[in-house]
Amino acid sequence: MADDLEKGLEGVLVAESELSFIDGDAGRLIYRGYSIEDLARGASYEEVLYLLWHGELPTEDELAAFTDALEDEREVSENVLATMERLADADERPMAALRTAVSMFSASEPEDDADPGDLEATLRKGRRITAKIPTALAAFERYRLGEEPVEPHPELGLAANFLYMLTGEEPDDVAAETFDQALILHADHGLNASTFTAMVIGSTMADIYSAVTGGVSALSGPLHGGANQDVMEVLIEIDESDLDHREWIEQATEEGRRIPGFGHRVYNVKDPRAKILQERSEELAEEGEGKWYDYTTTIERYLTEEKGLVEKGIAPNVDFYSGSVYYQLGIPIDMYTPIFAMSRAGGWIAHVLEYQEDNRLIRPRARYTGPSDQELVPLEKR
Ligand code: CMC
Repeated sequence: MADDLEKGLEGVLVAESELSFIDGDAGRLIYRGYSIEDLARGASYEEVLYLLWHGELPTEDELAAFTDALEDEREVSENVLATMERLADADERPMAALRTAVSMFSASEPEDDADPGDLEATLRKGRRITAKIPTALAAFERYRLGEEPVEPHPELGLAANFLYMLTGEEPDDVAAETFDQALILHADHGLNASTFTAMVIGSTMADIYSAVTGGVSALSGPLHGGANQDVMEVLIEIDESDLDHREWIEQATEEGRRIPGFGHRVYNVKDPRAKILQERSEELAEEGEGKWYDYTTTIERYLTEEKGLVEKGIAPNVDFYSGSVYYQLGIPIDMYTPIFAMSRAGGWIAHVLEYQEDNRLIRPRARYTGPSDQELVPLEKR
């Protein structure tokens, strides 16, 4: 048994997967062989979900049936709605509300008694979770605003329907397409921390609701999905600061601040998803306020060109430009990480299903560094 310790499991292979591949030196990401650029520009989030779950892109008929099946599962139970309302009234964070909602979805699962090894049933459960997440999240936001939830729109796809349920207004084509693209870009990314968490839970043959709830929990941290919100908070801090944005980043670097949205365990160059979101951010800036885009590009230029971070393999990751895209779409800042979860749920489910096809319990070891041969002193004498 090897005794090498790989802190943070860096570079450790734990499974085979056909789902996604990252070339961290070339800045390339593929889902089942298709480049992320082609998928973002030529497919919808529903097509990408189908690709991840079924292995191939759907035909028109397959997509229509798949989309109908997702639409049929959008509604959430009265219990989930009541809980979203209570959590909104209690000023709870949306990521915590989402974690609770996914866990609660299982209470109305019609195939609750399915055998844990019945992967067809697991796939159907995964579809229900994916369809319901936008409804629960949007309801939470409506309650926070003191409004009633908006019923799902039967004519709109998952991305446009989410924006519709959030605001009660149908999004324009630019907003709907941009948001759909953002969902595609976040759908899968190898064995990142939240996907691995979902896989570990799935490897015990626990149900998919538990695996997705665990994924949401792992994603919530600032080193993972929480960074998109942190980036926007930095941009707002710059906007409210007395310093010019160039001076702000100089000072922040001097103080040794770690800039969110920079650095990645796998990429040594700019994340290809950041490049696509940068284009979206620039387009939105041309229509509206240009300053957010200016702040991000100034930070990127300063850190990469002047501070040479890119030579150390630290470059913008997906979160660096997603924040300003969502902000320009009018989405509340603390919804950014839940939106990441809304998309990544598709990847978590795909990985759990793939792993369970040839399941083996995931159970690593730790090197014990504690004492041995301790003598137990009775409680009253300690
Ligand atoms: N700004 C400045 N320096 C950085 C940054 C940054 N954002 N990120 C890493 N470094 C430096 C770090 O100081 C260290 O330098 P040194 O070796 O001189 O001490 C070196 O890079 C390695 O950092 P690390 O934390 O050991 O690297 P890691 O692979 O464990 O961490 C990371 C990767 C993403 C946690 C880290 O880059 C980070 O904290 N970034 C900011 C948060 C962020 O944007 N997270 C989103 C990740 S992408 C989306 C996702 O997958 O969820």
